[in-house]
Formats: sequence, C-alpha cells, structure tokens
Amino acid sequence: MSDDSRPSLTGGRPGTPVAAVIPAAGRGVRLGPGAPKALRTLGGTPMLVHAVRAMAASRAVSLVVVVAPPDDTAEVKSLLDAHALPERTDVLVVPGGETRQESVKLGLDALPPGHEIVLVHDAARPLVPVDTVDAVIEAVRDGAVAVVPALPLADTVKQVEPALVAGAPEPVVATPDRSRLRAVQTPQGFDRATLIRAHGTVTDDVTDDASMVEQLGERVVAVPGDEEAFKVTRPLDLILAEAVLARRRLNDGF
Ligand code: C5P
Repeated sequence: MSDDSRPSLTGGRPGTPVAAVIPAAGRGVRLGPGAPKALRTLGGTPMLVHAVRAMAASRAVSLVVVVAPPDDTAEVKSLLDAHALPERTDVLVVPGGETRQESVKLGLDALPPGHEIVLVHDAARPLVPVDTVDAVIEAVRDGAVAVVPALPLADTVKQVEPALVAGAPEPVVATPDRSRLRAVQTPQGFDRATLIRAHGTVTDDVTDDASMVEQLGERVVAVPGDEEAFKVTRPLDLILAEAVLARRRLNDGF
C-alpha cells in the first residue's frame, strides 16, 4: 500500500487530492461477442471492479469517476455497490459517449471541485500495480502537467503503407529507432486545468489523453510503466490476466 504522507522529492504539490476517471464505455468488440468489456469477469470479479480497486489502492486517490456504457449505467452502479472498496474513496458513475475521448470528457465534466490532479485510467487495464499509480501521481505532484507510464518495446516496429484489402502485403516505409520508442499505458496523470483545456481544444481523433496535451504544446513526461498494466484487448489477454491474478493469489497466500 502506498504512503501518501511520503514527502515529495522536489517539493511541487505534495498532498494535492487526486481523482481518477475510468473510461469503461467501450463494447470491447476485439474480445469477441458478450457483455461490454469492462463487465466481463477476471477471477470471478468484473474487470471494472479490478480497475476501480487498482486506483483506490493509492492512498492519494479520493474519488473515482466511472464512465459506464450508457445502457448499463444502473447495472454498473449496483455492481460497484456490491463490491468492497476502501472507505476513503468515493465513486461516481456517469454515462459515456460514442468515443473514448467523449467518454473521458463526460467523466471530467462530472468532477467536483477540489481534485487538482486527475488520472485517466482505462478499465481495460485492470491489473496495474499501485506502485505505478503512485509513480504517476508523484511526477504530477512534482510539477509535470502530464505524465504517462511507459515501457520499452520488445518488438521492432515498422511503419507501413496500410493495405486497402485486409491481409494484403503492406509496403514498409520506415523502421523507427526502437531505443527511442515506448509503449504507453495508463493511468496517465494530469494537472486538471491542463487536461480540461486539452479536451476543450483538441478535436482530432486520438487514442490517449496525453497526446491531446502534446497538441497544446505542453511537455509530457514518461515514467516507468509495468508489464502487469497491459491492456486486455484480445482473447489471449484474458488468459494472461487470469494467470497474473492466480499468481497474485498464490503469493498473497504465503
Ligand atoms: O477501445 P480501447 O481499447 O482503446 O478503449 C480504451 C478504454 O476506453 C476502455 O476502457 C473502453 O471501455 C473505453 N471507452 C469508452 N468509451 C468509448 C470507447 C472506449 O469509455 N466510447
């Protein structure tokens, strides 16, 4: 468990209250047919509950805003009521939008005053360790306006000319230097005012919130991510997530 009384390394904003927004309104089509992704279970517990608990595990996080599939908002509320969370953490549930970006914006709109640091965390990353959450918060408290957890890449990455027909060979146009590339995870952490400005300004389609802050010309920094913060996207990821949970249970048993 993290220690919120720990002094910040460089001063900055120690003790600033933190809220986490969890976009969970996606259907998760790449996972195959079934319930919305966030409501599928891992180790018998819905993925979303794991994600909320992962944020609430940080003593700095006092509010979690869950952005639910619009048709399932009531179900998500009762689901969260039925699962234990730390008493220090309040949870709000709001309906989401058509895109991830819209869903995050709706979550930000629901934030009450008083939380000047905001995390945005995908429900699809249910197993992020608390140390990663705390490292992101600490970097924002130390003065960064936007922080992403990130890992070096194992694979070499090619830029291609995308084929018009799925499965057709795609011409490779470049090989970026792998040592300068990072795979970015969540939670991403922000100075609240900067994130709200980004969501009010940037209209391009983006796949993460930090890129919106980059488009404002603000500096985004990366801190070390964690392998266990992987995104559950495809059926194989469910098997990996179950294995990680089983190992944690085994370790907790000793
Ligand atoms: O589709 P992708 O895997 O990038 O989704 C990342 C996160 O955004 C997921 O947790 C998903 O539930 C959420 N999302 C959302 N609203 C949408 C689409 C995705 O909250 N309309």
